[in-house]
Amino acid sequence: VERLRVTLSTPRHSYEIKVGSNVLPSLGHNARDWLGKDAHRVAVISNNTVFDLYGQQSLHSLKTAGFAPLELIVSDGETAKSLTTIQKTLESLSIQRFERSDGIIALGGGVVGDLAGFTAAIYMRGIPFIQVPTTLLAQIDSSVGGKTGVNLPTGKNLIGAFHQPAGVLTDVNTLRTLPRRELSSGLFECVKQGVISGERLFSQTLRFLDAMDTSRLENSASQLEKLVAAHCKFKASIVRQDEREQRSRTDRRSRRILNFGHTTGHALEAVTRYRRFKHGEAVGLGLIVASQLSKDLGMLSAAELESILEAVGKCGPLPATDDLDATAIVKAISQDKKRNAGSVQWVLLEGIGNPRIVSETEIPPRLIRQALRRALKSSN
Ligand SMILES: NC(=O)c1ccc[n+]([C@@H]2O[C@H](COP(=O)([O-])OP(=O)(O)OC[C@H]3O[C@@H](n4cnc5c(N)ncnc54)[C@H](O)[C@@H]3O)[C@@H](O)[C@H]2O)c1
Repeated sequence: VERLRVTLSTPRHSYEIKVGSNVLPSLGHNARDWLGKDAHRVAVISNNTVFDLYGQQSLHSLKTAGFAPLELIVSDGETAKSLTTIQKTLESLSIQRFERSDGIIALGGGVVGDLAGFTAAIYMRGIPFIQVPTTLLAQIDSSVGGKTGVNLPTGKNLIGAFHQPAGVLTDVNTLRTLPRRELSSGLFECVKQGVISGERLFSQTLRFLDAMDTSRLENSASQLEKLVAAHCKFKASIVRQDEREQRSRTDRRSRRILNFGHTTGHALEAVTRYRRFKHGEAVGLGLIVASQLSKDLGMLSAAELESILEAVGKCGPLPATDDLDATAIVKAISQDKKRNAGSVQWVLLEGIGNPRIVSETEIPPRLIRQALRRALKSSN
């Protein structure tokens, strides 16, 4: 088991992340450690897909540790991240008379994590919660950092709160049941984090992608455990010193660098009405565009661009994009909510491990269109 501690400027917000293989049976024991001896009730928020696979084990472990667990099942898919679901989860907690010393367990991917975390952030002005991420994306990214929230019909993640978990228990064994496309989606995010982190995490990610090529996921369990832990460590190192993503920060360790690939990624999701891409796939294409653009601006070497493209190629297939209109995507980019002072902020690269935030006003629009067109064609 790999353990790491996320220390934050507010010490009582600090928490532990445990990454291991087959650690789910220790959920009760860990929850007792993290929630304390006064916690009696815990609500396990999950969806049917994940609960059918891992629900009973989780409940059993929690009961053994003296908890009275309550199952709260939400629907599967992004549409569950809504205020309607939040109202239901809050009402269930209230009917069951949950108190401030009780807790919530998020058992599932990023959708469940975001909405269970937000429920925990606002029920009685905040109760503790534990992340048990079961997708690769959630394990390396969304379970770390305390961003919680839901969508509005007008846009994704428009409502939310920063609420740090009391602990994160990551069982890489759960990835064995993950559909291949969801795994790829998480791998694109691994490449993203590797690229902005530096040569070390990037090559560790590449080595894992190569090993996965030749063997099955089951055979790579210990490497997977190390990879997930290394990614959590990187994400924690960013979050630690920029917990709330300060708008004023534009340095190479500000939380905003985690948006690498997201400028185009969000636009691709929006123009295809969230139907064509998994989030990680859109980010995969987005990081191709950002890397290509970095090279065209003379910031990134051809060799580095090549190795990034190679890494993305190893994660899995990307949906077809040759029918998408570059102009519509450019328009969607300019509507991106991650605007600052009226201009879109791109995360570009001055080399692997050296991200730089660049305002669109410093980039010739012709180069953006060119990088986009090239990436849209490359996915075939
Ligand atoms: N809070 C953050 O910092 C942050 C960061 C990145 C993304 N997100 C959010 O995360 C969400 C995407 O998360 P995701 O990619 O995990 O999607 P998801 O939660 O929808 O999970 C993907 C699919 O995999 C299924 N699944 C989950 N675990 C499984 C398992 N072990 N075996 C079999 N099936 C399993 C789910 O039921 C679902 O159908 C988005 O809403 C995004 O906004 C949040």
